[in-house]
Amino acid sequence: MKEYISNSPAETEEIAEKIAKSLKAGDFVAFYGDLGAGKTAFSRGLVKYLAPECLELVHSPTFAIVNEYVGEKISIFHFDMYRIKDEDDLVSTGFYDYEERNGIILAEWSENIPFAVPEDAVKVTIEKTGETTRRFTVC
Ligand SMILES: Nc1ncnc2c1ncn2[C@@H]1O[C@H](COP(=O)(O)OP(=O)(O)OP(=O)(O)O)[C@@H](O)[C@H]1O
Ligand SMILES: [Mg+2]
Repeated sequence: MKEYISNSPAETEEIAEKIAKSLKAGDFVAFYGDLGAGKTAFSRGLVKYLAPECLELVHSPTFAIVNEYVGEKISIFHFDMYRIKDEDDLVSTGFYDYEERNGIILAEWSENIPFAVPEDAVKVTIEKTGETTRRFTVC
């Protein structure tokens, strides 16, 4: 388990870029943390390193449920599980088809899909410690 402290959105992206270096196709990143914690900010940092040509596409996939960032080297599938309540909901998002596409899956609100988070997922927990400060735990 590793802990990181961020004092700004830019620092959050830098932390994410560091984590991104150890990610590869097939990996799953599970985010835990409240509204506005910084899950999307962290995702932006990951995409900046892994698929920079897709950077301007990164935003919270709240309405679409999933955003696809098809980069030159790797594809990233960015889910927002905020409205997912059960396995049927998850199936209807196409989640299990995405799992077969050998990209990297990012899942905001992984609290809602404990049944689908792989055991070997990279788990990123974000705590708001102040207006512009965040604590990240990665394990
Ligand atoms: N140190 C920080 N790291 C990340 N974001 C920060 C930080 N300080 C302030 N913020 C602000 O917090 C907000 C984080 O928003 P973001 O969309 O990344 O959160 P989220 O966890 O994805 O929320 P949601 O559950 O609504 O999708 C942004 O408005 C950002 O500017
Ligand atoms: Mg978000």
